[in-house]
Amino acid sequence: MAVFSPQALSEFQQILTRYPTKRAATLPALHLAQREFGWISPEVMAYVAGLLELPPIKVYEVVTFYTMFHQKPVGRHVIEACATLPCALNGAEALLEHVERRIGIRAGETTKDGRFTLKKAECMAACGGGPCLQVNGDYHEGMTPDKVDRLLEKLA
Ligand code: FES
Repeated sequence: MAVFSPQALSEFQQILTRYPTKRAATLPALHLAQREFGWISPEVMAYVAGLLELPPIKVYEVVTFYTMFHQKPVGRHVIEACATLPCALNGAEALLEHVERRIGIRAGETTKDGRFTLKKAECMAACGGGPCLQVNGDYHEGMTPDKVDRLLEKLA
């Protein structure tokens, strides 16, 4: 059963103090849940919905709208490749294919050794620096195949 640790529960209570309603705290509560559990399973969605006093469908709608929430277990390093138009115009598709070749999986998959998860993502609000990747939550702008190779070597 998914239950926050005492520390996460205390953090959740702190989050609630910053919002006018429990529902308004859905996004930070889900970020906390993802940090706590690693991904947002249906069980975690139901748990968060209970804490926020919302029908589970309301939490499901948020989790499935934002690509930043992981709906299945992920690897140690999560690479998210922006696939929205401004990055696409700067070569995002070719860059994604390069990443796929380098780590041997397609977007949406996790390597068998659990090292990498690769996801396509929507705009990361860094359009001027496309093509963009996020790796474990950190932005990497103006990416090229060479920069990807150096980044992957650092993660190895
Ligand atoms: Fe890629 Fe906005 S389109 S960051």
